[in-house]
Amino acid sequence: MSQVTTLMTTDIDNRFLNDVIAGLSQQQKNLPCKYFYDDNGAALFEQITELDEYYVTRTELSILTKHSQAIAKLLPDNLSIIEPGCGSGKKIAYLLAHLVNVKSFVPFEISNEMLNYSLAHLSPLFPELAISPLLGDFTHSQMVKQLSRETQLDSQTNLVYFPGSTIGNFSPLKAIEIMKNFHRLCGINGYVLIGIDLLKDRQVLLDAYDDKQGVTAAFNKNLLQRINAELNADFDLSQFNHQSRFNEKLSRIEMHLISNCDQTVTVNGESFSFSQGESIHTENSHKYALQAFTELSAQAGLRLEQTWQDEQGYFALCLLRPI
Ligand SMILES: C[S@@+](CC[C@H](N)C(=O)[O-])C[C@H]1O[C@@H](n2cnc3c(N)ncnc32)[C@H](O)[C@@H]1O
Repeated sequence: MSQVTTLMTTDIDNRFLNDVIAGLSQQQKNLPCKYFYDDNGAALFEQITELDEYYVTRTELSILTKHSQAIAKLLPDNLSIIEPGCGSGKKIAYLLAHLVNVKSFVPFEISNEMLNYSLAHLSPLFPELAISPLLGDFTHSQMVKQLSRETQLDSQTNLVYFPGSTIGNFSPLKAIEIMKNFHRLCGINGYVLIGIDLLKDRQVLLDAYDDKQGVTAAFNKNLLQRINAELNADFDLSQFNHQSRFNEKLSRIEMHLISNCDQTVTVNGESFSFSQGESIHTENSHKYALQAFTELSAQAGLRLEQTWQDEQGYFALCLLRPI
């Protein structure tokens, strides 16, 4: 099994507590979605990807099935690939099957569980592939510096692969900052391949984040369970309800947890009051028109070279290169 390197080691546990306290202290209470994926969260996310309502994974996989070979043809041999937020590692397998002499693959995760999933999936499929797993936070300000130090990435030609519409979890400003870092990571002759979720019928979007079986609700509430377990907190999960909303102005799905009653919750000795109906905002998922995403990428110094979409126009894979 490949040796996992941990970036920003001492940070992650303290940052979880600090981020939770900071988020619950805001006027609009919020919790960062990057903490969804503990053991249980990772398993629930895998269930979400199989739901009828959750078109996202199914659609992106259909694009990969149809176009991986064509995508691979546009990429050079001997690439090093880095996949921030690699999740289960299932999607990169489609590209790896068509790429020649991949030099190294760096799956990069904040979630130990997801990193283990990806290793368990990829190692048997590609026994010859040099895999260098990294545990860390791709939004960390020192990420590029630390990652370049820890890996054998080429200084000129790498592929940064970022599927799953994870870019949609960030505000446009933050997305530009992240893509600027990808630009630095991929090198002057490199490539960035990003999966974005396109704007579509509102009900389709709302249903995708609020399925009938309640798996997404369980996934959202699991964040409170994780805070209880890891940060000595006493959220009563039965007193919060999952809600998905479409924010038209900001073109994004929002997930919230709504307090059922007036209540007080304690996290690591600090008290937070909730009034009935008050929400904790837990996730954003921005939906893009292709033109808007092209303009956003340009602000990160990346030019859109080619896109691949499904027939319904639900999702796009975008190949970007440094301008
Ligand atoms: C929406 S899932 C997508 C997973 C996978 N890329 C896919 O397309 O199926 C987001 C993944 O990114 C990881 N993640 C979220 N924020 C992260 C961060 N700041 N640093 C590293 N990984 C992160 C999560 O743990 C999760 O596995």
